[in-house]
Amino acid sequence: MKLKILRIAFILILVCFSAKGFSGPFKFLSAKPRLQDTVKFVSPYAEDNEKCLKCHGQERYEYKNETQDRQVRAIMCSERIVDRDLFYQSNHKTFSCTDCHSAEYESFPHPGELRMEPKLNCIDCHGGDETYAKYQFEAIDSEYVQSTHFKLQEDGFSCWKCHDPHTYKINNRTTENIKLTISYDNAICLSCHTDFNHFQLLSDREEINILKTHEWLPNQAAHFQSVRCIECHTKVNNNILVAHQIMPKKDAVRLCNDCHSQNSILMATLYKFQSKEQRRSGFFNGIILNESYVIGANRNEFLNLISFGILGLLFLGIGVHVFFRVRKSNQNN
Ligand code: HEC
Ligand code: HEC
Ligand code: HEC
Ligand code: HEC
Ligand code: HEC
Ligand code: HEC
Ligand code: HEC
Repeated sequence: MKLKILRIAFILILVCFSAKGFSGPFKFLSAKPRLQDTVKFVSPYAEDNEKCLKCHGQERYEYKNETQDRQVRAIMCSERIVDRDLFYQSNHKTFSCTDCHSAEYESFPHPGELRMEPKLNCIDCHGGDETYAKYQFEAIDSEYVQSTHFKLQEDGFSCWKCHDPHTYKINNRTTENIKLTISYDNAICLSCHTDFNHFQLLSDREEINILKTHEWLPNQAAHFQSVRCIECHTKVNNNILVAHQIMPKKDAVRLCNDCHSQNSILMATLYKFQSKEQRRSGFFNGIILNESYVIGANRNEFLNLISFGILGLLFLGIGVHVFFRVRKSNQNN
């Protein structure tokens, strides 16, 4: 009997190890090297853009002081520097600077009234456009309008404050590396929430110490590397990929179980795209396990099957035993 159980258990283990698609901790077995994209984008406006980037592309710029007839060198403040590499990798890399900015910026000093120039918003270009339907700009816009930041709109808050016009690049749905997406997305929030100068431009509130307000979270550093701010601070929306309704702090996720359980909200937020794209057999929440070990959220289908199998064999063993006992006692009578 014991031998038989051992044999069956052994076969079950063999089956699950050789099962196609069984990855998780053994993913190195099936990891294939990915081709690197080595083609670099060359903008049709590269030359035009240099008219601006010769000053805005780095820290030092030069101009001619016509009145004194001399060449002047000066420092460009960091906020006004546009990084060429990041710009030519961004979503709007095919644009020329003057698609979004007035062509009058070509003259220097820039005419003062340009400061008052209104800027186009995402929805002005992307609203109602079939090509971008999958991003659901309208739905995102209506979430943003309900978000806690919207009250700062009059002080200058807009979609651009999180989506830097010169560097923003879709990440979540294109990346292979979840950790990079997490740090990309968190850097967006931290650009204000750990930089009081930026924060102050929009609010009179006292400085919020992020580390302090999240003291209740154990091993904060590990959590901030493994989850995004928006996981806890937005309302889950099944219809869009990235929820945009940042809620007031009292509604933020605080319950450990919201993530550390089998119906982890991470499957509806952080791993939403991946879990839709690739169903990994074996693990119920395979995609979570591939990236990190979230206590409570990982369960393996095969291990479940094995334990069911063993349980079944146990009952079978007891049944057979009872059967012979009963027969023997009948024979004895
Ligand atoms: C000769 C150097 C030089 C060139 C060329 C130049 N800029 Fe500027 N730009 C500056 C400096 C210095 C400032 C900051 C002082 C100011 O606002 O005038 C500035 C400020 C700006 C601002 C911010 C204005 C604000 O509201 O604060 C924008 C936008 C801008 N430039 C866009 C452009 C664009 C677009 C081009 C190319 C068409 C361009 N610049 C070409 C030097 C330059
Ligand atoms: C897709 C539209 C778009 C393109 C393309 C674009 N910009 Fe901008 N730019 C903006 C917007 C919007 C703002 C204002 C951002 C804000 O309000 O936070 C801005 C702000 C700026 C500023 C002022 C930064 C500040 O914080 O004061 C400078 C300088 C600038 N852009 C230069 C450039 C240069 C140089 C290029 C070309 C290499 C360029 N921009 C291309 C949309 C664009
Ligand atoms: C001036 C018009 C304009 C504005 C304003 C604008 N976009 Fe775009 N956007 C475009 C165009 C045109 C493209 C396509 C560029 C291309 O294919 O090279 C694009 C591309 C994109 C893409 C990539 C789409 C893809 O499938 O590759 C995203 C994401 C995006 N924009 C988001 C935004 C967001 C977010 C904002 C506001 C913060 C914004 N855009 C503002 C015109 C605009
Ligand atoms: C508080 C910050 C914040 C604001 C404000 C914000 N976004 Fe986003 N948005 C994000 C983050 C974070 C992502 C995820 C970026 C990633 O990893 O691809 C994102 C992603 C997106 C995407 C890509 C979604 C996809 O399906 O891949 C679009 C489109 C977008 N935002 C549009 C907007 C528009 C339109 C507005 C203004 C109405 C806006 N966002 C305002 C933070 C913000
Ligand atoms: C595990 C969930 C979780 C994560 C991840 C998280 N937060 Fe929070 N956050 C909360 C909760 C819960 C509160 C409410 C704390 C309180 O009321 O004292 C909060 C409070 C805040 C507040 C308001 C603080 C105040 O005193 O007004 C800000 C701002 C904030 N978080 C920003 C962030 C940023 C930025 C990130 C990403 C680096 C982040 N949070 C990540 C759960 C989270
Ligand atoms: C451009 C700057 C900026 C960015 C980027 C930004 N925030 Fe904020 N956020 C603020 C300011 C300013 C306040 C304070 C609003 C006020 O006066 O009550 C705030 C408030 C908050 C609050 C507290 C709301 C409350 O109830 O007190 C939360 C939570 C928050 N932000 C989360 C986030 C998250 C998550 C992100 C990234 C997705 C983010 N913020 C990105 C500027 C920013
Ligand atoms: C927003 C989702 C989320 C919430 C809420 C959350 N966690 Fe986590 N937690 C994670 C993830 C993801 C990891 C995996 C980190 C890794 O290994 O990459 C983790 C890891 C951990 C770890 C292991 C940390 C380590 O040192 O490796 C502990 C312990 C933990 N969480 C406890 C808690 C407790 C207690 C709470 C409630 C106060 C909580 N978590 C709330 C997502 C969450």
